[in-house]
Amino acid sequence: MIRLLLVCLDDQTRLFLLKHLSNKEYVFSVANSHKKAWEILKQKECDVIVAGHKLPRTSALDFVKEISKKSLLPVIVISGQPEVKDATQAIRNGACDFLVLPLRPVELKKAIIQALRAKKMMLENIRLKKTFMENKSNLIGTSSAMQRVREQILQVAPTKSTVLIIGESGTGKELIAESIYNLSPRVGKPFVKVNCGALPESLLESELFGHEKGAFTGALSKRKGRFELADSGTIFLDEIGEMPLSMQVKLLRVLEAGEFERVGGENTIKVNVRVIAATNKNLEEEVKAGRFRADLYYRLNVFVIEVPPLRDRQEDVLLLAHYFLHQFARESKKDVKGFTPEVEKAFLSYNWPGNVRELKHVIERAVILARSPYVGMDSLPPKLHTVAEPSAFITLPLGLKMEQIEKIIIEKTLTYTKGNKQAAAEMLGISLATLYRRLKEM
Ligand SMILES: Nc1ncnc2c1ncn2[C@@H]1O[C@H](COP(=O)(O)OP(=O)(O)OP(=O)(O)O)[C@@H](O)[C@H]1O
Ligand SMILES: [Mg+2]
Repeated sequence: MIRLLLVCLDDQTRLFLLKHLSNKEYVFSVANSHKKAWEILKQKECDVIVAGHKLPRTSALDFVKEISKKSLLPVIVISGQPEVKDATQAIRNGACDFLVLPLRPVELKKAIIQALRAKKMMLENIRLKKTFMENKSNLIGTSSAMQRVREQILQVAPTKSTVLIIGESGTGKELIAESIYNLSPRVGKPFVKVNCGALPESLLESELFGHEKGAFTGALSKRKGRFELADSGTIFLDEIGEMPLSMQVKLLRVLEAGEFERVGGENTIKVNVRVIAATNKNLEEEVKAGRFRADLYYRLNVFVIEVPPLRDRQEDVLLLAHYFLHQFARESKKDVKGFTPEVEKAFLSYNWPGNVRELKHVIERAVILARSPYVGMDSLPPKLHTVAEPSAFITLPLGLKMEQIEKIIIEKTLTYTKGNKQAAAEMLGISLATLYRRLKEM
C-alpha cells in the first residue's frame, strides 16, 4: 500500500486522483491547508505528498521547502499553470516532480513510483552513511581529500559499476576497495583479490580464468580461476597497470560480456562479477606508451577514485599516527600514549614517499622501541631525524592557469604552516572561511 497525502488540491484534481489511483494500491489522507497537512504528518506515516499549487503561490512553494527541510518525504507538485519558473523553483525547494493539469493517469503513477524510488535511495544513502560512520575506524582521515573519497565510496558502493582506484603505493587503495565491497549489496558474497603484478603472464591467465585438466604440463586436474570463484561477488584486480597486453584483451571481454574460457577449454563460462581495479601507475601514460590498451582503459575509467599521497593530506598525518599508535599499543599491551612534540613535528615535515603504509611501519617500530609513554625522537628511524624545515619559497613553472597557481600556493602555504589553517589564512591574507571554501573547491 502506498500512503498518499493530498494537500491543498482543488476538488476536481482530488476526485481525479481518487478515481484513477486504485484503492487496492493506495490509501489517501486529505488536508485542505498546510497547517492541517502538518497535523496529519505528526500522527500518520505517509510515503508521498501530492501538493496542489493553488494561490497563494508562494505559500505552496514555502510548504515544499519546509517539508523537504524537515522530512525525507517526496513531494509532487501539481499546478494549473505550466510556468517554467514555478517548476524550477518548486524543484529547487525540494519537490521531486512538477506536473501540470490536465493530468494523465500514467504520468501521475510514474511520478509516484519515481518519488518512492527516490525516497528509497535517500534512505539507503543514509543507512550507508551510518554504516560508514559506525565502521569509521576502517578508513581514517578528515582531510577534504579523504572526505571526497568517502563520498565517492558511498556513491559507487550500491551500484555494480566498475571502479578504478588510483594512487601512489601505500595510500590505502586496497582498504578503499574493501570498503566498497563492505558497503555494497554483494557483501557476504565472494571477495577475491588478485595481484596482477605478482604473477608471470603464463600463470596469470590460469589464475584468473582457470584451466582444464591437461591444459599444460603440470595441469593435473581442472582448476577454477579467480573470476569463477568470484561469481556473484566482487573481484579486486590490484596493480592492473602491470597486466600484460595479452591478458588485457581477455579482461576486456569479461568486463564487457562477462564471459571467458578456461585455459585449454572450449566451453564459454559466464560469470556475474563486480570489478574493482587499482593501480599506482598513470594509465593514460601507459596507454600512450603502448603498454595498456586504450579500450580497456576507457572501460575501467567509468568511476575513478583518486587517492592523494599522504604528504598532500597534512591534516590526516597525526590522526593516522595516533590511530596506529593506539592500535599497536593495544596489540603489544604496551603503555604508550602519545608522541613528544618533536616527533609530531617530524611527522608533519617528512614527505612520506611510502605514504600511509610507511607511517604505519614507522609507528609499529616506534611502539616496540618506546621506553616511555610518549614516543620520543630516539624511537624514530634516521630518515625522520634529517627532515628539512619546509621551504619558505615556492617555485612555479610558467604556463599554469591562475586556478592551478592558487591551488599550489594554498597547498604549499599549508605545508609551510604544517597544516595550521589559521596561520595559512593569515599568511595568505584571506579569512579562514575563504580558505575552507577554496579547499573544498580544490
Ligand atoms: N586512510 C587510512 N586509514 C587507515 N589505515 C590506512 C589508511 N590508508 C592506508 N591505511 C593502511 O596502510 C596500509 C597500506 O594500505 P593499502 O594496502 O590499502 O595501500 P595500497 O594503496 O593498496 O598500496 P600498494 O599500491 O602498495 O598496494 C594498510 O595497512 C592500510 O590498512
Ligand atoms: Mg595495494
